Amino acid sequence: MTRYQTIDDLEVADHTVLVRSDLNVPIEDGEIGDDFRIVSAIPTYELLLDRGARVRVCSHLGRPHGPDPSLSLQPVAHRIAEITGWDVGFDTDEERITVMENTRFLEGETSNDPQTARRLARGCDLFVQDAFGSVHRAHASTVGVAEILRSAAGPLLHDEVEALGYFLGDVERPFVVVLGGAKVSDKLGVIANLLPRVDRMLIGGGMCFTFIAARGGTVGDSLVEEDMIEAVTVLLEGPDRERLVLPADIVAGDRFEEGADGRVVPAGSIPDGWLGLDIGPAAAWEFAGEIAASSSLFWNGPMGVFEWERFRGGTEAVARAMGEVDGFSAVGGGDSVAAVRALELEDTISHVSTGGGAGLELLEGRALPGIAVLERWVR
Ligand code: 3PG
Repeated sequence: MTRYQTIDDLEVADHTVLVRSDLNVPIEDGEIGDDFRIVSAIPTYELLLDRGARVRVCSHLGRPHGPDPSLSLQPVAHRIAEITGWDVGFDTDEERITVMENTRFLEGETSNDPQTARRLARGCDLFVQDAFGSVHRAHASTVGVAEILRSAAGPLLHDEVEALGYFLGDVERPFVVVLGGAKVSDKLGVIANLLPRVDRMLIGGGMCFTFIAARGGTVGDSLVEEDMIEAVTVLLEGPDRERLVLPADIVAGDRFEEGADGRVVPAGSIPDGWLGLDIGPAAAWEFAGEIAASSSLFWNGPMGVFEWERFRGGTEAVARAMGEVDGFSAVGGGDSVAAVRALELEDTISHVSTGGGAGLELLEGRALPGIAVLERWVR
């Protein structure tokens, strides 16, 4: 594990602290969809302000190529002000706390250009890395600035590293991992690193159809990543194959639409013209049983198209069963976290992660550049 200093090691009073947060939230027409990442970031600002610091917040939002008004962080600054009642500046230096404009509007941000890093660091004395969701990116605002300013990990980042790091250590058993979401290719590294460690790995979501197809099942028009079939076959035939659990049944739809007709079919017997949009009730029951009986549980990725009522049963069953875990449970990934929040189940889960890809890379056992760079400041 990388070593780093924390805010407690910094003398922040009367200093300007640049805080990198992950405020990459869903925004449409200036309206924030889910403010979980904003709400999670605020305690760090509060701590720094209480200790007498001036706080300058930076983050990316979306994936713009240059300035794009629809991806301005201004609505995020407003939301912070609304939640806290503070005077929050936007792209100015006049307030005690200010939110800077989207870092990805700057040329050189994603290529970690040293000049861009210097521009971000200008006028700041210290850097706090608190953007757990972004530490897998080696960008100017996640790595470059930490090479210039004395840097430490923020409390949100530290909590995430501790919580997810638990799953790479000596976990309490049974240890169950639930993976879903559209693509196997996004999860292959995590599967490879965690499969030998778990007691059960439950696979649902769009990604399960590549497994079912690799096993010789008929998947109709379901999502299959042909170029992953070989890698998945290796897993299905490998020494840890007994730990992999695929859904026994599927809710298939006659088209990819909210109003699609839904039908429960055995996994591996999806008719032509139909596509799998959720795990079926028998699978949901089996998965829920495995989850409820576990003592360590990690979940990333919905079991089906959770946004559509007809196809949310599997994801809902997983989310509800997590409350039964007698031990440590964590959920990560934007869609699964959104499902947990929509069902108001956050309080039943030990750790709700703000990270998507970053959490997966941590669990792959990879070094995360935005954390690794902090080590140079350890004295
Ligand atoms: C995320 O939402 O996973 C992070 O904010 C990273 O965003 P990115 O994939 O655009 O770098």
